[in-house]
Amino acid sequence: KHLAVFASGTGSNFDAIQLAIEAGTLDAAITLVVSDVPTSAVIDKAKRKGLKTFVFDPKSYPNKRVFEIEIVEALQEAEADFIILAGYMRLVGPTLLHAYEGKIINIHPSLLPSFKGLDAIGQAFDAGVKITGVTIHYVDEGMDTGRIIAQEAVKVSDTYARGDLQRAIQVVEHQLYPATIQSLLQQ
Ligand code: GRF
Repeated sequence: KHLAVFASGTGSNFDAIQLAIEAGTLDAAITLVVSDVPTSAVIDKAKRKGLKTFVFDPKSYPNKRVFEIEIVEALQEAEADFIILAGYMRLVGPTLLHAYEGKIINIHPSLLPSFKGLDAIGQAFDAGVKITGVTIHYVDEGMDTGRIIAQEAVKVSDTYARGDLQRAIQVVEHQLYPATIQSLLQQ
């Protein structure tokens, strides 16, 4: 199957997916990397890997519909079967949702429905919860509201600073995302 990975930032989940493909534990190919941040590290990495990229600056479009029409064209050209959001810091609009209904997946660094939205790790840390975690879910029109596919808990040790929690969450993300994608592709 062909995956399109959407990311706005560092792309550590992109790396984990890419490594799983190289290791043969994820039977798929990344045929497109999409970013709304032209200077993002993920785009540098994708280019170095020789992957096809679609980079756009939302500010140069009149609205979301117009850039999503271009994204859908790029996805069709890349023959993408699934859209994997990996730190794509933008709500998906109706144009993209309808074109890839039931095929868009996101990872969120909390046990949804707790701590939706931005800085979920900071929200959980500030709330003082003793357990948080990672959720992988289908994407719908809401923010972090789609049907849950997989979750894994992460304990918040009393000794943790915020950065420790972030690292613990990332370790789980990097294992859970490729494994969950692999099991979705088998269905
Ligand atoms: C991850 O924590 C993911 O759960 C959230 O955005 C972050 C992306 O990190 N949606 P990275 O760019 O993959 O390192």
